Amino acid sequence: MSTTTLDVKTEVGSYFISNYPPFSQWKTDYVDEVRQAMASPPRDVPLGLYLHIPFCRKRCKFCYFKVFTDNTAGEIETYVSALAREIELVSQQPAMGGRPFRFVYFGGGTPSFLSVRQLTSLVDRLRANIRWDKAEEVTFECEPGTLSEPKVKALRELGVTRLSLGVENFSDRFLEENGRAHLAPEIYRAWDWIKAAAFPNVNIDLIAGMVGETWDNWRDNVRRTLELAPDSVTIYQLELPFNTVFSKDILGNQVEVPVADWPTKRAWVDFAFREMAAAGYHVSSAYTMVRDPNKVNFSYRDNLWRGSDLLATGIASFGHISGVHYQNLPEWKDYIGSLLERSELPLGRALRPTSHQLLIRELILQLKRGYLDAGYFRAKFGVDILEEWAEVWRSYVAQGYATLLPDRVELTREGLLRVDALLPPFFEPQHRGVRYT
Ligand SMILES: C[S@@+](CC[C@H](N)C(=O)[O-])C[C@H]1O[C@@H](n2cnc3c(N)ncnc32)[C@H](O)[C@@H]1O
Ligand code: SF4
Repeated sequence: MSTTTLDVKTEVGSYFISNYPPFSQWKTDYVDEVRQAMASPPRDVPLGLYLHIPFCRKRCKFCYFKVFTDNTAGEIETYVSALAREIELVSQQPAMGGRPFRFVYFGGGTPSFLSVRQLTSLVDRLRANIRWDKAEEVTFECEPGTLSEPKVKALRELGVTRLSLGVENFSDRFLEENGRAHLAPEIYRAWDWIKAAAFPNVNIDLIAGMVGETWDNWRDNVRRTLELAPDSVTIYQLELPFNTVFSKDILGNQVEVPVADWPTKRAWVDFAFREMAAAGYHVSSAYTMVRDPNKVNFSYRDNLWRGSDLLATGIASFGHISGVHYQNLPEWKDYIGSLLERSELPLGRALRPTSHQLLIRELILQLKRGYLDAGYFRAKFGVDILEEWAEVWRSYVAQGYATLLPDRVELTREGLLRVDALLPPFFEPQHRGVRYT
């Protein structure tokens, strides 16, 4: 998406950039590259584990993730068995090399959709092959209405250090209109249990620009978030990728969906950042504010953005091992069949980026923090990023999005608020107009 389209209406299409080269360039034909990488000795980089739990109580109308609703207990049991089998298979790969997991991330979908019994059974089976007691961060994503007091306690006992709560909005009306499964009272009920369990780090997710959002309601969202005083707050600007319910309404049924335009969403995030800064929070990235930077470190994010290995498990998950990007099979029967019928890793598509592409990937991901250190890239890739993209930086400085300092570039607040739109000019020419996902 170009900066010009970002000056106006929220159109259907992807905004958020989470990897490079674009996912559309990863191919089934390259899957042997992952097999080879898995069969080779490990690189000397940190290793993380991602587990995808694809179930949700309801599909939110703005959501673009791979999720399933209305599953039977039997289907969930099948999935848990497949995931446990997958962990067993990957833990035998030479590329693991006995490395401990530095960070673990249960994402979704909604990991907290699993019952205490299903969770304990999953963790027991995983522990037969892997351990995460040495991990510096174990994140678990939760939807407020799926939590209960025993479940929150169980999460703490299972070793979760960072609980991320999908609040999104505090208005019952907007939560309902956007298809969320929970209302505000469930947020407050869950919050008491979460506080009592004393997780080292609790994050709240908000979305700026849910359908119907207004300035008055947004101010109220920010006020209520600050009242809860979470360790960190993550704010996404609502986007409408092709596969959301809202996008299908807009494109197929020609329905008007009242989503705020991009300048308004940026103004909302800016407002939230200012209010939170006044309350003592610090900007940690384009999306995140933290209360105490000394206490909260983002192991998953920071390691990933510096090129660590990430073992991806679960249906459709994305990972990276020894220089190769890969994604697991995205269809239920293929994923389950591969593991439970053939005992094979469920690899779907892959790509081995060139060294220049790995440099671009780190550059665009690290720019989301709001600054880049040229020395880091010179030492790791032998490239001076300020010279290599001198034209791009000049243009961003002229537009008021960036400031050039000796050996460093910093984004201004205006730049940070639109950071994803600033990234495609760093792409190689063949990746600039291609579909992202
Ligand atoms: C996997 S969900 C978090 C856990 C849980 N499923 C939930 O929603 O409470 C990840 C986050 O992505 C964000 N998200 C989902 N769809 C989005 C969209 N279209 N635009 C911006 N953010 C979105 C939401 O903030 C959500 O909390
Ligand atoms: S936003 Fe969360 S709860 Fe809603 S459908 Fe997506 S993954 Fe599920």
